[in-house]
Amino acid sequence: MDEMINILVVDDEKVVRDGCQRVLTGKGYSVLTAENGREGIDLLAREAVDIILLDLKMPVMSGEEVLEKTSERYPDIPVIIITGHGTIDTAVECMKKGAYDFITKPFQIDEFLLTINRAADNRRLTKKARQFQEENVRNLYDLNLEKSRIRTIVNCMANGVMVTNRNLEVVLHNPALMRLLEISREIEGPTPVTQIVNSESLATTLKQIQSGETSTGEFISQEIKAGKNTLRAISVPALGPDDVVVGTVTVLENITPFKQLDEMKSDFVNMVAHELRSPLVSIRQQNSVLLEGLAGPLLEKQKEFLGMGLTKIDQLLELINDLLDIARIEAGMHVQHQISTDIGKIIEDTLALMESRAQEKGISLTYTCNGLKPIYADPKSIEEIFDNLMTNAINYSPGGGQVSVSANGLGEYMEIRIADTGVGIDPEELPKIFDKFYRVKHPETREVMGTGLGLAIVKGVIEAHQGTIDVESTLGKGTVFRILLPVILSDKNA
Ligand SMILES: Nc1ncnc2c1ncn2[C@@H]1O[C@H](COP(=O)(O)OP(=O)(O)OP(=O)(O)O)[C@@H](O)[C@H]1O
Ligand SMILES: [Mg+2]
Repeated sequence: MDEMINILVVDDEKVVRDGCQRVLTGKGYSVLTAENGREGIDLLAREAVDIILLDLKMPVMSGEEVLEKTSERYPDIPVIIITGHGTIDTAVECMKKGAYDFITKPFQIDEFLLTINRAADNRRLTKKARQFQEENVRNLYDLNLEKSRIRTIVNCMANGVMVTNRNLEVVLHNPALMRLLEISREIEGPTPVTQIVNSESLATTLKQIQSGETSTGEFISQEIKAGKNTLRAISVPALGPDDVVVGTVTVLENITPFKQLDEMKSDFVNMVAHELRSPLVSIRQQNSVLLEGLAGPLLEKQKEFLGMGLTKIDQLLELINDLLDIARIEAGMHVQHQISTDIGKIIEDTLALMESRAQEKGISLTYTCNGLKPIYADPKSIEEIFDNLMTNAINYSPGGGQVSVSANGLGEYMEIRIADTGVGIDPEELPKIFDKFYRVKHPETREVMGTGLGLAIVKGVIEAHQGTIDVESTLGKGTVFRILLPVILSDKNA
């Protein structure tokens, strides 16, 4: 519904005032009246008026004077001049000074109403336009306020922030980013990301995110080097309307102190493991000598205790060897002696070693192969991989079942699958099982002894051989580990 329009009639003739009031009220307008210019001006100061009907000839203050004041103070209010026939020229003068229109006395009702209605429409339109304008100003103000607030937050952050547009140009960054990337020059305007980040892997990641190759909501975390520092870069797509990728957002954190701490910890573990190993090996040897009766005959009970001690020593040695393996993998020195290796033979040998353990647990072992090709590898490390994976498959199958191993030549890769029908792994746990020391708590496999290093070693060894490992598992049904290792191509073979 339209807003009520208030009309102020300023005329010294009572008949005119009353007549206007009657006609206009009848048409739904609200009407205020004033006897002279002064009264009219006072009313304007007090009331919200939309249209002024103004007589020219009045005592106290003439219509022209009133018009002068209203055009100055209330330029938006249309003023309609009431004029007699003889004073049309003056009315035209008034129009030049800003009056909206004029009507001549005596009024023709139709014409009068037409003029008033037009002025009312005009008034409504100006009011709306002004409202829009005010709203716009307010929105712009809010927007600017919000912008400067976000700017302040981003600028104060200790982590580096970098936002790129869809052309992979940096459009927003903060001082921390410049500090972390050790850039001293100013960046002005959109600048290609490759000119700012000196890391090919991050540039590649951002390209992949921009081209929509990553799934939405996925955080990509990677370590990059910047001078002496190691940074963790976490990148995500910036999504526009309809979830279209419009750029990328990367947050960078300095993890150098954590890396140093990690190195110190690894060095310490490495040192301790080394120092423990040599005395343990000699204790083991001496125990074996005793157990074999080479230092004199033993009673059955003594043999039993020595045997138990030997098992514990073996477990400890296994743990120490695992720790040393991990340390070597982390230092990138694990695969030093690579030769042409027959993977089928290693699998068969490992399965043969596992046979008695599997039988004890009522597990059947099967092996199939197809298109076997030699790989370039360190046979000892490869043995370690299968030993770990098959031991896991047997250990985590408490109710018997089947462990099936298959090896297939797939073009440039050998694919090896180790599948079991054991307890399976909860989907939430799956991403963590390759972490060092991570063990899943499962009521049925609580007695299985282990340190949680097996799979970390397996993954490290496979990656050191330029291979990959992934896992699929269904809780209560079983688990499949799938390994891909590059085969020796025929030219290398020759
Ligand atoms: N085939 C499997 N089925 C079910 N769970 C498995 C399987 N393989 C591994 N897991 C889970 O993953 C965890 C990590 O395995 P990993 O081999 O690294 O350590 P571990 O077997 O506990 O100890 P160890 O270092 O002696 O091998 C295990 O504790 C187990 O919970
Ligand atoms: Mg294991």
